[in-house]
Amino acid sequence: MASRILSIASLFASVALGAVTVTRTDQGPTGYEVTITYQNTSVDSVTIASLPHLTDQYSTSFWSWSDFDLNEYKPGDFPRDPQDGSYYEMNKTGPGEFTWTRPFFSGTFQYSFLLDCAHPSLCNTTTGQEITDPTNPPFETVPGSELVSTFQVPYHHDFQYYPDQNINQDYALPYGNNASKGTIKIETYRSPGSISPSPGIHDYVVYLPVGYNANDTSKKYPLLYLSHGGNGAAGDWQNQAYVSNMLDRLIGDGHMEPTVVVMPTWYGIIANTTNPDALYLRNYPDSATIASLYSKYLFPHIESTYRVSNDSSGRAFAGLSQGSFLTYEFYINYTPYFGYFGIMSGGPATNSENDPPALSGYVNASMAAANPDLLTRGLFLSYGQYDVLFTDTRRLQEALDDIGAVYVTRFLPWGFHFWNTWQDAFWHMGRMALWKPIPFTKSTGHGK
Ligand SMILES: *[C@@H]1O[C@H](CO)[C@@H](O)[C@H](O)[C@H]1NC(C)=O
Ligand SMILES: *[C@@H]1O[C@H](CO)[C@@H](O)[C@H](O)[C@H]1NC(C)=O
Ligand SMILES: *[C@@H]1O[C@H](CO)[C@@H](O)[C@H](O)[C@H]1NC(C)=O
Ligand SMILES: *[C@@H]1O[C@H](CO)[C@@H](O)[C@H](O)[C@H]1NC(C)=O
Ligand SMILES: *[C@@H]1O[C@H](CO)[C@@H](O)[C@H](O)[C@H]1NC(C)=O
Ligand SMILES: *[C@@H]1O[C@H](CO)[C@@H](O)[C@H](O)[C@H]1NC(C)=O
Ligand SMILES: *[C@@H]1O[C@H](CO)[C@@H](O)[C@H](O)[C@H]1NC(C)=O
Ligand SMILES: *[C@@H]1O[C@H](CO)[C@@H](O)[C@H](O)[C@H]1NC(C)=O
Repeated sequence: MASRILSIASLFASVALGAVTVTRTDQGPTGYEVTITYQNTSVDSVTIASLPHLTDQYSTSFWSWSDFDLNEYKPGDFPRDPQDGSYYEMNKTGPGEFTWTRPFFSGTFQYSFLLDCAHPSLCNTTTGQEITDPTNPPFETVPGSELVSTFQVPYHHDFQYYPDQNINQDYALPYGNNASKGTIKIETYRSPGSISPSPGIHDYVVYLPVGYNANDTSKKYPLLYLSHGGNGAAGDWQNQAYVSNMLDRLIGDGHMEPTVVVMPTWYGIIANTTNPDALYLRNYPDSATIASLYSKYLFPHIESTYRVSNDSSGRAFAGLSQGSFLTYEFYINYTPYFGYFGIMSGGPATNSENDPPALSGYVNASMAAANPDLLTRGLFLSYGQYDVLFTDTRRLQEALDDIGAVYVTRFLPWGFHFWNTWQDAFWHMGRMALWKPIPFTKSTGHGK
């Protein structure tokens, strides 16, 4: 066993540049090419999971899409939801040597390797067949909590420009030099009942902006809590969406004040043995319990540890998908504590496409009469055109219209219920909504 580990380690040393190589080719179809290599003498075949297949706006709806190989890219194409089964076989080039090359377009991409896997949908981390890339390991707070490795490809205007469908996501590329980068760290706090990473101790990720000085008592930073979604983890926004790059750029380019960002996780925050998916890390309570635990233990810890605003006008809660249900919970039941709420792909009711009447369960006039703060918060709502929670989020907007609340919207024409949609949402929330004067007016969305 020891000798096998050694031989694997020496193999990795020979691919010193890492397993993913992004090359600017200045040639069609995209102007960029990505090569991924993997070496492991104990496997015979490797399938790459989660890298996208392509579709286009003329053949895509909520429920159906085209299924082009990356080799077939044409300007205007975009990635379909890779969670719907996107797989590519790697080429075996020698014993235990695998390689794979494709043209790639702008964006942040996530992938994992399936080892000796005959039926991709049946291979996972539990069966031991799905792994992240050992030479490009994920950013994660708890080992095993992130299931994918990530890379990013730049935009190439000559090959990717398509006026109806802008896919440029260069805002997530690294920003400037080291002097313009904030720091991103994994931390823990005391949260009674937590089962992960250890009893009574829970984890989070924190971003501190450039210039943050723990000793400078004269300065307080605005504070954003940013949540993952269902089946996620505290490391998701950094691992899958390069959130620190987006923050460095939003702040460095003057779109957003320097902000402290806390990325918590509800998985493992207490034991919930009635949860049928109760894997160690996947154990979680309902939104009301999460909100009360964060409020009781996480928020006081953050306020006493970092130089953050003690005022609601300097506090925001935002989240994607199931994290937007949690954001809604804070909006309704902890309204005065936060000045801003970012709801990305999700309303309070799920699957409401099948469940008219549309607005039952959503915020309404009697709630607003009892809680007038609901009308004075800075609200940001976003979704993608092909987002499975499009309708739920749209209905929340209708409900907000009915109570007379003003909100800022971002809609991604090529967006599925996936990370590129939430990167786009985050970027625009920073440009258009965060820390802009509240209550919002109809001209808030003009940005800086
Ligand atoms: C190599 O393959 C074996 C067998 O599938 C797997 O258990 C192991 O995790 C792989 N090692 C690395 C470093 O990828
Ligand atoms: C796989 O190998 C074949 C033969 O060397 C080559 O033509 C092809 O481009 C390779 N495919 C990938 C995806 O790397
Ligand atoms: C992993 O795959 C096995 C066999 O295909 C399946 O029974 C199991 O439910 C899967 N586990 C998860 C967490 O998806
Ligand atoms: C920038 O930071 C990285 C990571 O901390 C470090 O490896 C690199 O040497 C730094 N570069 C410069 C020019 O300081
Ligand atoms: C803050 O103060 C501590 C203790 O005086 C010191 O060690 C540390 O270097 C200071 N940090 C900064 C960023 O000035
Ligand atoms: C425990 O998990 C189940 C299933 O997900 C959920 O319905 C229930 O509300 C959870 N219990 C608590 C106390 O959060
Ligand atoms: C916030 O801090 C300021 C001084 O830093 C203090 O005057 C004010 O009372 C605090 N507000 C709250 C709500 O704690
Ligand atoms: C508004 O919502 C509350 C809470 O869900 C509900 O109790 C109430 O009946 C609703 N009011 C109207 C007029 O629908």
